Amino acid sequence: MDGNGRWAERRGLARTAGHGAGEQALVDITYGAISIGVKALTVYAFSTENWRRPVDEVRYLMNFNQGLLHRHKLDLHEEGVRIAFSGRRDWRVPKRVLHDMQDAEELTKKNKTMTLNIAFNYGGRAEIVDAVRQLVADKVPVGKIDERSIRARLYHPELADPDLVIRTSGEYRISNFLLWEMAYAEFVFTDVLWPDFRREDLFEAVEEFQRRERRFGNVEQ
Ligand code: IPE
Ligand code: MG
Repeated sequence: MDGNGRWAERRGLARTAGHGAGEQALVDITYGAISIGVKALTVYAFSTENWRRPVDEVRYLMNFNQGLLHRHKLDLHEEGVRIAFSGRRDWRVPKRVLHDMQDAEELTKKNKTMTLNIAFNYGGRAEIVDAVRQLVADKVPVGKIDERSIRARLYHPELADPDLVIRTSGEYRISNFLLWEMAYAEFVFTDVLWPDFRREDLFEAVEEFQRRERRFGNVEQ
């Protein structure tokens, strides 16, 4: 969900105003995704690298993400959305935020319409490291270490690998997002800044995705 800071700067506002404006985009994209039958939507809310930002911005983002849950979890629950999180639940995340994350997960865990997976304190490398740690903790023998056993220890093995990854704000980077899961994802890049991103932009990206030919390493036969 990139481009919040630039969106705000262009308007002479504080960067945090851009994060705030991104809330509408997130709501619209979530409901837009449901309307076209998307089963899983992962949004990158806060990365393991975002702790480097100024403390005020980090504090804002912690409060903001907690506020988002408060403002939307009941509506999402009614809509049948399962709320999940990918990322490290370590000491850097305030306890009250961890508590509300768990609350939202618990409330919505049986929902089937769509999974909204919020990548929070998430890093793709950290996820792989955590999976390897788990392999060792499980005492998996060397010969049993394969893609299946690693994948089974990612944060959400029950979610299919993403078919489509959309990067907003004209950046052409992966930025440590879903490294393992994206191996065969299709990418759509757009200049639209996240606070301006709406379901029409999502639908356009899906149409672009539908025009792609996916071979998964095979050749056309
Ligand atoms: C993305 O917007 C939001 C988070 C990383 C939390 P940015 O804050 O990265 O916005 P730009 O890239 O500075 O415009
Ligand atoms: Mg950015």
